[in-house]
Amino acid sequence: MTTLNLAIADVVLIEETSPLLEWTTRFTNLAYIAAALLFILALAGLSKNDTAQRGNTFGATGMAVALIATIITAVVQSIEDPEAYRSGFATLILIALAMLIGAAIGIPRAKKVEMTGMPELIAMLHSFVGLAAVLIGFNSYLAAPDYGLDGFHSGEIFLGIFIGAVTFTGSIIAFLKLSGRMDGKPLMLPGRHLLNLLIIVSSVVLMFVFAFTDNVTVEWICLGVMTALSLFLGFHLVAAIGGGDMPVVVSMLNSYSGWAAAAAGFMLSNNLLIIVGALVGSSGAYLSYIMCKAMNRSFVSVILGGFGGDTPSAGSDDTDYGTHTEVNIAETVEALKGARKIMITPGYGMAVSQAQYPVANLTSKLREAGKDVTFGIHPVAGRLPGHMNVLLAEAKVPYDLALEMDEVNDDFGEVDVVLVIGANDTVNPIAEQPGSPIAGMPVLKVWEAERVIVFKRSMASGYAGVPNPLFFKDNTDMLLGDAKATVEEIVAGL
Ligand code: TAP
Repeated sequence: MTTLNLAIADVVLIEETSPLLEWTTRFTNLAYIAAALLFILALAGLSKNDTAQRGNTFGATGMAVALIATIITAVVQSIEDPEAYRSGFATLILIALAMLIGAAIGIPRAKKVEMTGMPELIAMLHSFVGLAAVLIGFNSYLAAPDYGLDGFHSGEIFLGIFIGAVTFTGSIIAFLKLSGRMDGKPLMLPGRHLLNLLIIVSSVVLMFVFAFTDNVTVEWICLGVMTALSLFLGFHLVAAIGGGDMPVVVSMLNSYSGWAAAAAGFMLSNNLLIIVGALVGSSGAYLSYIMCKAMNRSFVSVILGGFGGDTPSAGSDDTDYGTHTEVNIAETVEALKGARKIMITPGYGMAVSQAQYPVANLTSKLREAGKDVTFGIHPVAGRLPGHMNVLLAEAKVPYDLALEMDEVNDDFGEVDVVLVIGANDTVNPIAEQPGSPIAGMPVLKVWEAERVIVFKRSMASGYAGVPNPLFFKDNTDMLLGDAKATVEEIVAGL
């Protein structure tokens, strides 16, 4: 959305000369205010499951309003001013071309992307916003007459390029790591914090030189050196972060891309772009904060990196947790028939096996039989924020059955049977042991229930690579197999 905004924003820059053009500019400003309100309503809608669809519609309508207003401005410019005729017309063709190319690439990609591949797609899209901000920065610099910029505008350009370049390379690295094309291990260069600090300090110095010098060659040198440094900084910042922290990084890059768009808005004097950029920037930053809290990680330590890739493998823990016990389908069916209160805690495995549809069937069957069935959703279950909620909504599980971790964590003592479907780290009691690799990460305390049945294919560890003592507890049984097939058999058994 922001990338498209970046592209269309250029249009309103063309100077207005006639009353019709003046009127059009007023109309555009009004449309931009309406679009900004729609974007705010979109964010408000997206904050809850049952209003998310409405939120999406608001967002799409806002984008359409902004786009139509911008295109009308371009058309009026071309009618009114023979000088602008060519630029207005060319702008229209460029917009149409950009939309066609974007749609040709974007629609098939978005249609075939799996929910589990969403984080890497988002990371890739953020890199476009970063690149757009860099290009707009250079364009604004080149477009200024005789490069005669005032200090403030120079600062805007400099900052826009800086944030854009960091977002660009950072997002590419996040994409490569998430898609497995690059090793997830953190890159630990010696003195890496000092290196980052040096780059930031040098960039600030270069910004002042750029803003206050009159020498065009010096300005170009400042811009060039800063661009190279910030491209490296983006690469280095994200390369230093391990796979475990990638979700936070994606949301952090989302935030950066928002600030890059806002910076571009300042460069282009486009209010809508500033508002949209600030909305994306601040909501991304807040989401990163919530995710850090859910993983018990400090935001600063995530940004500084070096964590999340050095997670031990399951074999590295010598603790003998005893032997696990297994149940079969018939026993699980009996356990469910005898239970009154049932809680389902889904995880990444439910997404992989696409078990949400049989899980929805199971839920309605059990509810028809008078059972109290709810879902306990961990904030980072799966591979992206809200992953489980989206899957359950897709399978038409009523929204009010999906409860947040904080709402259910004190009530497991009252639950007769917990079905852990493809979840592992998010239900791992080792998080309560000081010194364990995921120590302090809040988890669903499923083991406090009377009985726990874990649906997974093997005894392998989860995303964090940490062994899970839950599997060996007296009240836990393993139901090994693909989650979808297993749940379907249970539904048939019921
Ligand atoms: P995980 O710890 O990733 O465990 C998922 C489990 O699903 C695995 O142990 C796997 O065991 C099982 N599984 C895989 N395919 C299956 C299938 N077809 N049928 C049945 N089971 C299957 O899951 P979680 O509890 O959801 O935790 C999420 C983890 O990902 C956390 O560590 C979190 O920090 C991290 N993370 C989260 C996010 C966000 S924002 N949600 C993003 C990136 C990373 P088997 O192989 O034995 O079947």
